[in-house]
Amino acid sequence: MSEVISYEVHGDVAVLRITNPPVNALSHAVRQGLSDAMGRAESEAKAVLIVGDGRTFIAGADITEFGKPPKDPWLPDLCNRIEASPLLVVASLHGAALGGGLEVALSAHYRTAVPTARVGLPEVHLGILPGAGGTQRLPRLTGAGAALDMITSGRHVGAAEALKLGILDHVEDGDPQSVGVAYAQTLVDQGAPRRPICDMPGPEPVDFDAVHADVLKKGRGQLSPATAVRAVQAASELPFLDGLRRERDLFNELMATDQRHGLIHAFFAERAVSKLPELKGVEPRPVAAMGVIGGGTMGAGIATAALLSGLTVTLLEMSEDAAKAARGRIEGNLSGALARGKLSQDQYDMLTGQALTLATDYTALKDADLVVEAVFEEMSVKKDVFGKLDGVCKPGAVLATNTSYLDVNEIAASTSRPQDVIGLHFFSPAHVMKLLEVVVADKTAPDVVATGFALGKAMRKIAVRAGVCDGFIGNRILSAYRACADHMILDGASPYQIDAALLEFGFAMGPFAVADLAGLDIGWAGRKRLAPTRDPRERVPDYPDRLCEAGHFGQKTGKGYYIYEAGKRGGVPNPEVMDLITAERAAKGITPREFSDQEIVRRYMAAMVNEAARVVGEGIARRPLDVDMTLIFGYGFPRYRGGPLKWADLTGLPELLKDIETYASTDAYFWQPAPLLQELVRDGRSFDDLNKGQPL
Ligand code: CAA
Repeated sequence: MSEVISYEVHGDVAVLRITNPPVNALSHAVRQGLSDAMGRAESEAKAVLIVGDGRTFIAGADITEFGKPPKDPWLPDLCNRIEASPLLVVASLHGAALGGGLEVALSAHYRTAVPTARVGLPEVHLGILPGAGGTQRLPRLTGAGAALDMITSGRHVGAAEALKLGILDHVEDGDPQSVGVAYAQTLVDQGAPRRPICDMPGPEPVDFDAVHADVLKKGRGQLSPATAVRAVQAASELPFLDGLRRERDLFNELMATDQRHGLIHAFFAERAVSKLPELKGVEPRPVAAMGVIGGGTMGAGIATAALLSGLTVTLLEMSEDAAKAARGRIEGNLSGALARGKLSQDQYDMLTGQALTLATDYTALKDADLVVEAVFEEMSVKKDVFGKLDGVCKPGAVLATNTSYLDVNEIAASTSRPQDVIGLHFFSPAHVMKLLEVVVADKTAPDVVATGFALGKAMRKIAVRAGVCDGFIGNRILSAYRACADHMILDGASPYQIDAALLEFGFAMGPFAVADLAGLDIGWAGRKRLAPTRDPRERVPDYPDRLCEAGHFGQKTGKGYYIYEAGKRGGVPNPEVMDLITAERAAKGITPREFSDQEIVRRYMAAMVNEAARVVGEGIARRPLDVDMTLIFGYGFPRYRGGPLKWADLTGLPELLKDIETYASTDAYFWQPAPLLQELVRDGRSFDDLNKGQPL
């Protein structure tokens, strides 16, 4: 009947089966096919069953069609048309029924599902809200509270919970089509009535203003969840059709926002980031046994992530005592997972028992398929470790360094097998943070790169390919925007104003709170390392060194930019910091000036975008989207802005370049425009053009 909808009649039931792989998204062809098939069923059957082919029912509207001119039939009209059918309409769910997929199911009169099915309205994560009646129909079934929770969080709800909430009428294991046909036939045989949700009363009101305020605060500036609250409110206050109109208006409002562009960019970039043309057809090396060297916070976190992804781990430490402490850290991490119900007691016992070995002798690593070192960040130490690994590891074992700055080529050259050496840069705490930079050195073999990506996938991380340079993608860009923040402090801003302005922009934390969390000694070591080769024109503040010299390393010592009290979340500004800054300005003859929050954000973002453009231009990141994913998943960049280079596109590259040129009038050394940015502005192109494969 249609390429994407097959039509069969079983007894009294017409079966409309959607076949639009991979996830049966509601493309125009699917909508048209469903609409036509409904018409045919109405002349041939007593009931209609809607079911999905393949791995899932329907994953939602076809996101690739967003922003294109709408084509009839629209999804909201299709849902209304299904609901208004004189036949009894049943949906049989398996896999995921998300977004428009759940909205189609809600326009059916009855819903059955297999026990593994999940339902949800995740539209807020795309910067929009359910736009095909979801905000009006769901609360009529579940009440306003449960609907607000599902719609504002976008969470997936399992079949058992969905049954309890009244979203499903029936749960039964088996083939979704057979279960669905039998269920629909039984309903027909019992003379069950049609049951359109639009005829049900609206939900009892809740304190919508309070929920709105709460959601807005939690979203750190993200608009879609709070806007969705107003749509659910309409379900409670307006007749169904007026509620639908209100939903549509709010939906259109969100469709027009930059946040929608940012979030949809993030959705596709997250999936594109691990797809590298050079890895097509390259098989990763098998990894079952992993070695980790160093059991500090980072090493223990990496070991925890490896255990949770099903690998066995041998962790090497320098002494029995250090090994014991490392085991304690890993057990601490895993007991967190146990307490949150992510692990059963049996799994915990297995992971901390047979799957984990602590050792103090390198020979324990002889059978490891992949070893990652997380030892002290010093080239001579790393070379020593890699020399030893070269001596004991089996041929073909992947040898990885977790360095965050050092030259992976130099580390690789200290072995007889540089083709097996790679950087795997985890972010602390490594069992929590999603980012993994896969750092590819000059001689790294393609199947070793593929192994890095396969490990990232097994650990459910976002793996990003990076080239070798000081800081790779993330830390290199961080150095630039952090330097810009330091310059603003010398010139008159305070760390607290900068942190506050960036929180307001949507960052999870400001740069100075981040520095306190990471440990001020890290930046101190970096400044010392780079001092001998530093260009004299570079402006580097001294006051953070004074803090470190006094033993203030941030959170771990209780004092840094902020003062931390035990048991309290966050810190309060440390007054000594402003004294140190004032003294440094005076010593350098700087008259401080006022900065507006807007200028702070503008300069900070210009520094970030400029360095990111250099990172892409030099091929350290393959595509702008690799930078965007790095900053979102490793550096607390607000996802709803799509990443720094998506933000740059949306803000306007010519305006950004102009800012940089203006700032250069007082510091031409720091504000040298990136050649790639100049090129894109000259040619009237965007970073996104590069993501789409337009050559540099
Ligand atoms: N539209 C278009 N393409 C989609 C899609 C959608 N709704 N959902 C997934 N895809 C694509 C992915 O981009 C991916 O494509 P590639 O293989 O080319 O990279 C492919 O389908 C497989 O997806 P995943 O890799 O994510 O597969 P998974 O098995 O890990 O996850 C899933 C499956 C849970 C369904 C996940 O894809 C997902 O969460 N999809 C999005 C769901 C969603 O947000 N739906 C709401 C859409 S908006 C809406 O419906 C608005 C409305 O009310 C009108």
